[in-house]
Amino acid sequence: MSARPIVIDTDPGVDDALALMLAAASPEVDVRGIIAVAGNVGIDQTAANAAALADLLELACPVGRGAAGPLWRRDTENAAHVHGNNGLGGYELPRSSRELIPGVPLLADLLGGSDEPITVVTIGPLTDIALLINEHADTARQIERLIVMGGGTLDVPGNASAAAEFNFYADPDAAARVFAFDVPITMVGLNATHQALVGPDDLPQLWASGGRIAHLVEHILEDYERAGYGSGGAMEMHDPLAMAIAIDPTLVTTAALHVDIENVGRITAGMAVVDHRHRPGSPPNTDVVMQVDVPRFRALMDTRLAELDRSVG
Ligand code: RIB
Ligand code: CA
Repeated sequence: MSARPIVIDTDPGVDDALALMLAAASPEVDVRGIIAVAGNVGIDQTAANAAALADLLELACPVGRGAAGPLWRRDTENAAHVHGNNGLGGYELPRSSRELIPGVPLLADLLGGSDEPITVVTIGPLTDIALLINEHADTARQIERLIVMGGGTLDVPGNASAAAEFNFYADPDAAARVFAFDVPITMVGLNATHQALVGPDDLPQLWASGGRIAHLVEHILEDYERAGYGSGGAMEMHDPLAMAIAIDPTLVTTAALHVDIENVGRITAGMAVVDHRHRPGSPPNTDVVMQVDVPRFRALMDTRLAELDRSVG
């Protein structure tokens, strides 16, 4: 089976880093490009992190510098309290010498120039995708599928606020624009990523390998716990789960539902409103991830990260 072409839009970000590792280690996906967007930390840092991670992971694809902030709002918040001021929990990677390409034009060129349909995996705010839709709508329609880490269902609606998950909270207008656009979407919300807990005990093959990847993963898990966001040493694998679905969609079950993103509420901005009523006026527009095969997800993480650790040395 040929590899699935993907482009990754990301705000690295410690869990973004794990997702990029998983992508680099998995022959099921062909990483055609990485585009950094502002989110967890500012664009200068997310772009530098994306380039440095691409170097570490020996990814030959182009790296782009996307949006520096949300579409229209000025009250931007980051998640440095979770990811550290440098976005990687304080872990210092060698600075890349790569030339960073303007992100949205790169995304348009990668999509328009491909003779195969491309899946776009978004693991940060959706600003770049909304800009692509606004500026290159016909090209955006060529997207095979958007696999979006974001949102949640009523049982687990938010982390950045009581109602909203961070990626949608950071740019509610962009999220609303994307979910109103006619492109297949898989939404990997907090209801799913809260199932996808991975801790040190789940990664025995990686620790047995013990190289640079193992050292970075160990730092990420420890810093996440130190920051108070882990649960008993385990970490919610938000972005790695989205990437794992691109690698093996059978890891999860989904429900075809209507999803709209609240972008005007004073206290609900960024909330993913998942409609379970199946009414004619709100037809399904999203495949919402509901259940995760957690043992298989954990095994994929351990096996692939260990293989990567052995390959990059
Ligand atoms: O809510 C989790 C999401 O917000 C993840 O993508 C994490 O990296 C942060 O960007
Ligand atoms: Ca992210």
